[in-house]
Amino acid sequence: MINEIKKIERSAKTEIPEAKTAEDLQELKIQFLGRERGALTLILRGLKQLPEKERVRVGKDANKLRGLLESLFEKRGRELEALTIESVLKTERIDVTRPGVRQKRGHLHPHTTVLDEIERIFGSMGFEVAEGPEVETEHYNFDALNIPADHPARDMWDTFWLRQNESKRQNSPPGANPPQAEKVKSNERLLLRTHTSPVQIRYMEKHNPPFRIIAPGRAYRYEATDASHEFQFYQVEGLMVDKTVSIANFKAVIESFFSQLFKTKVRTRLRPSYFPFVEPGFEVDIACVICNQKGCSPCKKTGWLEMMGAGMVHPNVFKAAGYNPKQWQGFAFGMGLDRIVMMKYKIPDIRLFHSGDLRFLKQF
Ligand code: FA5
Repeated sequence: MINEIKKIERSAKTEIPEAKTAEDLQELKIQFLGRERGALTLILRGLKQLPEKERVRVGKDANKLRGLLESLFEKRGRELEALTIESVLKTERIDVTRPGVRQKRGHLHPHTTVLDEIERIFGSMGFEVAEGPEVETEHYNFDALNIPADHPARDMWDTFWLRQNESKRQNSPPGANPPQAEKVKSNERLLLRTHTSPVQIRYMEKHNPPFRIIAPGRAYRYEATDASHEFQFYQVEGLMVDKTVSIANFKAVIESFFSQLFKTKVRTRLRPSYFPFVEPGFEVDIACVICNQKGCSPCKKTGWLEMMGAGMVHPNVFKAAGYNPKQWQGFAFGMGLDRIVMMKYKIPDIRLFHSGDLRFLKQF
């Protein structure tokens, strides 16, 4: 056994320092110290069969050998680690002086850029941003806005109605319990909102005045498309409610808004108009910023561009939202975002926005 120990020592002394890789080293470890069949393990396991005197002597030598093997393995392990780091540093070196490869960058859609600007301007005048769902109920899109089902003004908005489970919408059979409030709500017809005005009601139901908000978002109308009409477009709704709010306040806010947006003093004009949810109602025109009122095709040679519908909030709308119309006043407006973007960037056709044509999008 003593001879065997010497043999292991000799081969360990030559083989371990020559191991080329961490895997080779591991192989050797198993060969010498492996729990099952390691050469030294077998010797230690056989000790108990030796007579006592010999067991002490061989045991001492075997333990010395174990110490030696462990230190050889540790030393070679550290050397191999250092070699690995060195080679990684050599091969994975980055030459920071080499010219870079330009990354292709995406960019914002013109809608987003202009909307950010609009939110910034209104934000500077104390308006917060509110949101509402694009799939709306008949109640929020029409009834609460003073447009009941039989109102002729419903024709102003060609609507995409959503198909619903018919059985849900059937009336209860005679003799059944009267429908509960929740059930009435779930019976309601759903639609794609035709304007952002329902956000007015949703916001007022949850907040107490005074407040100022804008509500940007998509609206949908079941109508034929042309260069200035899409069936899917963006509006920015506005609503300011306080104890004393007047048309003069509206005019000041909106003139300041357009002047900041177009970076030039912009004059506005209010024309009487009709929307069931405001009284009085008007259309807002701005002095054409493209031709400076000399007459061009976007302003149809009139010198004025139609920008939005607006008016003073109708008392019935306040009532529908749970406000006392004798206590509160407000103005509301709804403008088309697409047309503003088209004017800012001189885009001739609204349908380009959703065409997915990269030649168009890359220009912004
Ligand atoms: C409304 O939708 C009202 N809710 C606006 C309003 C709000 C009035 C609050 C009073 C108080 P109107 O249908 O006019 O109004 O639409 C408002 C703007 O949306 C239009 O001036 C136009 O810029 C834009 N718009 C309407 N239909 C389309 C369409 N098919 N494609 C692109 N833009 C459209």
